[in-house]
Amino acid sequence: MNDEWLDTIVVARYDATARIVVLDLSSPAGAELPEFAAGAHVDVLVDSAAGLVRQYSLCGPPHDRTRYRLAVLAETASRGGSLGMHRLRAGDRLRISRPRNRFGVADRARRHVLMAGGIGVTPLLAMAHALRVAGAEYELHYCARNRAEAAFLEELELDPRVRLHFDDEQDDKRLSIAADLGPPDPDTAIYVCGPGGFMDFVISSAQTAGWPAEAIHKERFAPMQDAEAHTAGGTFTVRLAKTGGEYEVKDGESVLDVLLARGIDAPYSCQQGICGECIVRVLAGEPDHRDDILTDRERADGMFTTCSSRALSPTLELDL
Ligand code: FES
Repeated sequence: MNDEWLDTIVVARYDATARIVVLDLSSPAGAELPEFAAGAHVDVLVDSAAGLVRQYSLCGPPHDRTRYRLAVLAETASRGGSLGMHRLRAGDRLRISRPRNRFGVADRARRHVLMAGGIGVTPLLAMAHALRVAGAEYELHYCARNRAEAAFLEELELDPRVRLHFDDEQDDKRLSIAADLGPPDPDTAIYVCGPGGFMDFVISSAQTAGWPAEAIHKERFAPMQDAEAHTAGGTFTVRLAKTGGEYEVKDGESVLDVLLARGIDAPYSCQQGICGECIVRVLAGEPDHRDDILTDRERADGMFTTCSSRALSPTLELDL
C-alpha cells in the first residue's frame, strides 16, 4: 500500500449530475502537483481512520499541474468510498497517492477510438485532452442512459470528435460497434472504460469483428469475478527469489495476503486484480492468472498479480 501520501485541498466542487460530483484538488501550499499522463489514476485515502482507500482516474488536462480533477459517481452499493467523496466540500483536505498509470495512450497508433460507458468517461477525458493537444486523430464515444446522467456535456459538445450515445434516443444515435469502430485496422487503438457489462459488450463485439486483443486497451473499475474466485484453490508454495523465503498459500488466501501477514513489503493497492500495483515477475512455476488487467503478452512475459492470481504448479518463484 502507498505510504507516501500527498496532501491536497479541495479548491472547487460541483455536482455534474444528481449522482456525479466533480472535485478539483490542489496543493495546499500552491506547489505544482506531480506530472501525470492521460489515463492515470490516484489512490484516495477517503477515510484514514477506517483505512478506506479508493482509486479514481484523473480526468482533467494532463498538462495542468495546478490541479487534479476527479469525478466520482455515488455508488448505490457504496461501502463509504463514493459517499465519503460526495460529502467533501471546498476547503476540505484530502490525501492522495502520486498518479499511477496502466492505461496510457498507445504511442504507435495513428487513430484512437475512445469508448466510454457512464463514469468510465473519466480517464478517457484526460486522453481526449492529451490527444487534442498532440493533434492526434481520435474519436470519443460517450454512452449513458440519458442526458441527465451524463457529466461534462457542455465541454464535450464543443468537441466535434465526440459522439454522444444515449439509451433513450433513436436507434441511429446508439453505439454501433460495426459502424463506430469500422473494420479492423492495425494503426488504430481502442480504449474502453465503464461498467462491466458495457466493457464486455464492446470488447467481445470488437473481437468478433476481428479486432485483435492487443488493439483493445481497457480499464475496469470493478473486478469481473468476486473476491472468492481470486483466492479459491489448492495449496501451493510461493518462493521469494531475493530472500529464499518460502511460504504456503492455502485455499481462501491470496499470495499477497500471505506475504503481508509475514511482514514482507510487497506492493499493492486495489487487491481486486484491476490496478496493476501488485504485479511482480514469475521466475519459475506455472501461474494461474485470475486478474482483469494483464494482457496475454504480459502474462507470457512472466507478469503476475499477487492479489488475485494463484499457481497451477506446486511452487511459484517470484522476483521479490
Ligand atoms: S493490488 Fe491491484 S491488481 Fe493487485
